[in-house]
Parts: sequence; C-alpha cells; structure tokens
Amino acid sequence: MYLTKEEERIYDGEYGWAKQLCMKILVKLGDLFGASRLIPVESAHVSGVSYKTLGEAPTDFLEALADAGEKTAVQATLNPQSLDPEHLAGRLPENLVKTQRLLCEIFEKMGFKASYTCAPYYIKAPTKGAHLAWAESSAVVYANSVLGAWTNREGGPSALAAAIIGKTPDCGVHRTENRKPKILVEVKAPLEKDVDYGALGIFLGKVLEDKIPLITGLEKPTLENLKQLGAALASAGMVNMFHYDSAAAKKTGKEQLEKMVVESKNLQETVEELTTTSTAKPDLVFAGCPHCSVNEIREIAEKIGGRKVKAGIEFWVCTSRHIKEKAKRQVQKIEASGAKVITDTCAVVTWTDKLGIKTIMTNSAKTAYYAPTMNKAEVRLASLEECLKTALKQ
Ligand code: F3S
Repeated sequence: MYLTKEEERIYDGEYGWAKQLCMKILVKLGDLFGASRLIPVESAHVSGVSYKTLGEAPTDFLEALADAGEKTAVQATLNPQSLDPEHLAGRLPENLVKTQRLLCEIFEKMGFKASYTCAPYYIKAPTKGAHLAWAESSAVVYANSVLGAWTNREGGPSALAAAIIGKTPDCGVHRTENRKPKILVEVKAPLEKDVDYGALGIFLGKVLEDKIPLITGLEKPTLENLKQLGAALASAGMVNMFHYDSAAAKKTGKEQLEKMVVESKNLQETVEELTTTSTAKPDLVFAGCPHCSVNEIREIAEKIGGRKVKAGIEFWVCTSRHIKEKAKRQVQKIEASGAKVITDTCAVVTWTDKLGIKTIMTNSAKTAYYAPTMNKAEVRLASLEECLKTALKQ
C-alpha cells in the first residue's frame, strides 16, 4: 500500500505509539482488502461504546490512548452506550454504571461528540459523495443507500483508528466498481406497514450474502421505511448498501442481473420466525431501533393521543439527545402517557435482563433479530400500530 511521507512518519512512530498503532490498524486492513492508498474521511462513527457489548478488555487500552493525548482528527460521533441518564442509570447496578461512565469520559476526552446514537445522520447528514468511516451497520447502509455517502462497515477499532488519523483504506464500497448491484430483487409483496420493511431486510440479508441488491417494487417508501430495511438487511447479512431508485435501475441494465422475487409469504414467514412469543402483556414495548427521527417521534405522539400506558408494561421510545431536544413538545406528549423517551441507549445495548424484562414487543426487525441472544428475552415483532395497541389503555 502506498503511504505519503507524512503517513510513513506516523507509521514509523515519529508521532508517538498511539498514532502509530492507529496507522498500523488502517494499513493492515488496507493490505488485507487490497487498498492501494488511504483516503481522507469526512467523519467517523464508532460503535462498541456500550459496556454491555464492549466487555472488559478494551477499557485499559482506550484509557491509554486518551492519556497519550490522542484526539479525533475529523468529526467523530459515538454509538449508543448502555445508560439513559434520566430513566435507566438509577435502576442498574452501580459497578456497571460506573464503568460505563468512565468509558464515555474516555471517548469524550479524545474529542468524540457525546452523540450516543446509531443515527448520527440526524445530527449532521454527511455530504453526498463524501467518504466516511462508520461502524454502526444500520447507519452504514443508510449512509450508502439513502444519503449517497460512501462508507465500509468498519469495526470498532478501525473506526476509532480512522477517527484519530482522519483517513481510511481505499477499498470496498469506497470504490465505484464495488458499489454496483449484483442482483435484481423484485418485491411483489405489498409493503403496508413499517414492520414489512424490516422483515424484507431480514429476509434479504439471509439470502443475499454479500451481493448488493437493486430492489424494485418499493412503492414510495418513507426515509424511515428505508432505515428499517437497511438496519434489518445489515443485521442478517453482510451487505453494506442497496439500490432502490429508478436512476440506478436505468444505469445498471437490469436484464443482465441475476434475479429473485420476494412474495408476501416470505415476509410473513420472516415475521413468524422472529416472533418467539404471542404474549398480550410483554414486559417492554419498544420503538426506536434504529433511533427515532423527529417524524417518528411526532407520529408516536399523535398516535398515542391522550391514552395512558397500561399498568405492568414499560413503553420505551428510543432516540438521541439531539432529537429529544428538537421534538420537546412531542416528547412531553409521549411521556404524559407514562411512556419513557429514552436517549443515549436502546433496549438491545442496555441490560434489560437486569431490569427484570423477559418479554419484548417491538416494531423493529433488527431488535427482534438480536433480542433473544443479546437480551435473553422472548420477542413479539409487530407493527407500530399493534405495539401501541398493546402498550396503551384504549
Ligand atoms: Fe440502534 Fe440499538 Fe437498534 S444501537 S440500531 S437502536 S439495536
């Protein structure tokens, strides 16, 4: 891999061990994936911030990096951690809270923005065509497919290295030739509810392997529908982007692509597979995976109307601090029902089991996909409408 003089100096340790290590991570990755050079990134987004998912080992390493005085070189944001300061921190064991807070302090000391969201694009959307080094898979697919930015699915360490060096290896979907669709997916199923898009994503994730799809048959999807589709696609598979617009279809020459059809029964079966309980009284009803947009917060507030959450059920709506602040009036409306608008975390990356939650109902296929293992919980996957019906007194 070609390195500039400056990059070589960093690689040789002239700027200290920490930068050297970050550069070595990037060069190793670049060599592995056939990159010929490093390219500058507009922003980096680091995952593995939650103490629950990160585990014990890297805390010391991160602390050493921060103590070495390393700072982010570009705009750098953080994925959700395991605590919501207002609603959850007081309910979790003290040792977990303490370590999580320490981790957050370390990241913030290095210059990371205390965003704690999987939807950093709501804080600042990337420039169209910009190269990024993002690690959260749902955000990666959304950035590539909907926002027109270019990012591989980074791991936590490579996104961290990219944040500090400000560069990433020029490989994968940073290269035009690797962004072309490889398979035409004709969706014949009507996509009527939010949950249908998530089910489509999980179904495709399982069958596509790493083939980028050109998806046809999406009738006027909202941005939130596409967010659900991408989050689920990345959960069940390795695809980092999809094409869905007619411009991509024209450019590609659909007839040369391998083809597959998705029918209603594929989506129904996917929802059934992801649903492990039919309980009418889940411990938790959860919306906001990926984190809610202002539109979604508004929709939930409107749909709640004046209703109240049933006794014995928790209802969480997860979003970022940024969106909670922006949608204050709607947040008040939601919380007046007894629901909690949770920021900085989500049901998957906090310790729901330690809160006594054994059953989760959600409109997110991604949560349904992960909760049985990550939360040791039974799951009911259903539309937002059905989630609200279950959570609220009529
Ligand atoms: Fe975000 Fe948590 Fe879902 S991090 S994508 S809300 S699993």
